[in-house]
Amino acid sequence: MLLITRIIPEAVLARARAEHETRELRHVGPFDRAKLLAATDGVDAILCATSDKFDAALIAALPASVKVIATYSVGTEHIDLAAAAARGIAIANTPDVLTGATAELTLMLMLMAARRAGEGERILRAGNWAGLTPTYLLGRDVHGKRLGIFGMGRIGRAVARMARALDMEIHYHNRTRLDPALEDGAMYHADDTSFLGGIDFLSLNAPGGESTRGWLNAARLAKLTPGAIVVNTGRGSIVDDAALIAALRSGHVAAAGLDVYNNEPNLHPDYLTLENAVLLPHIGSATVETRNAMGFLALDGIKAALSRV
Ligand code: DGY
Repeated sequence: MLLITRIIPEAVLARARAEHETRELRHVGPFDRAKLLAATDGVDAILCATSDKFDAALIAALPASVKVIATYSVGTEHIDLAAAAARGIAIANTPDVLTGATAELTLMLMLMAARRAGEGERILRAGNWAGLTPTYLLGRDVHGKRLGIFGMGRIGRAVARMARALDMEIHYHNRTRLDPALEDGAMYHADDTSFLGGIDFLSLNAPGGESTRGWLNAARLAKLTPGAIVVNTGRGSIVDDAALIAALRSGHVAAAGLDVYNNEPNLHPDYLTLENAVLLPHIGSATVETRNAMGFLALDGIKAALSRV
């Protein structure tokens, strides 16, 4: 029995139904632990999403029949992996297939933030556009600028590839330096002072979890080139919201493009007051092609895990 916690694309659901007996919660909204647990009787596989929090207590409470949890995401920080391993529960996720879509959204946010696209659309829709003047809604060029990527994994490298088409100079900061072939000319900074002080755009593409929690804090923001633009399509937890909001208010950070937040969907309310923040509701991988591919990959992971039992 496959328990599916959320609404998933039709094509993926059709395959899930063909391969498994399914129990479909079609849950919308905040995670409901009691509802999920109440549906786990006789279940051997669970297909969940990042908004479903599988902490150690929940994993301990799952019936012994559960052999695999597949998440509709590349990120796994919402699952206590150690607790799952201790119970012999396999974890499947969806790497690779969402790289292109997430990188595209990153570029889109960079361009939108730099060109004040959200602000312009709000003015237009409110009927407040008085017409063009040479100083109206001036943004910043993106082409020819220095892009700093924090987290040069698959998605970070795809962002770099796309940004090169905009003639951007690529810098990156990572725990370890990449092989030159993967660097593809990007400049490595072991030290965050030289990294942050030498870029015009900062793209956060690192995973969530404890190792990156609060990385973009007040001290690091102070090192960032004044007037830089910050984009986050990685995880909200990488950012100290109060510090970024203060930097956006002061203009030290000229603009931000955010797709992910701490405490989703209840983002820090002050972001909503900032004209220089472009805000999207965690749609980095939300394309028809990518969400189908993610679902199929999750089903492959479930099949592989159950075949090992
Ligand atoms: C991921 O795959 O981790 C994306 O953030 C979508 O949840």
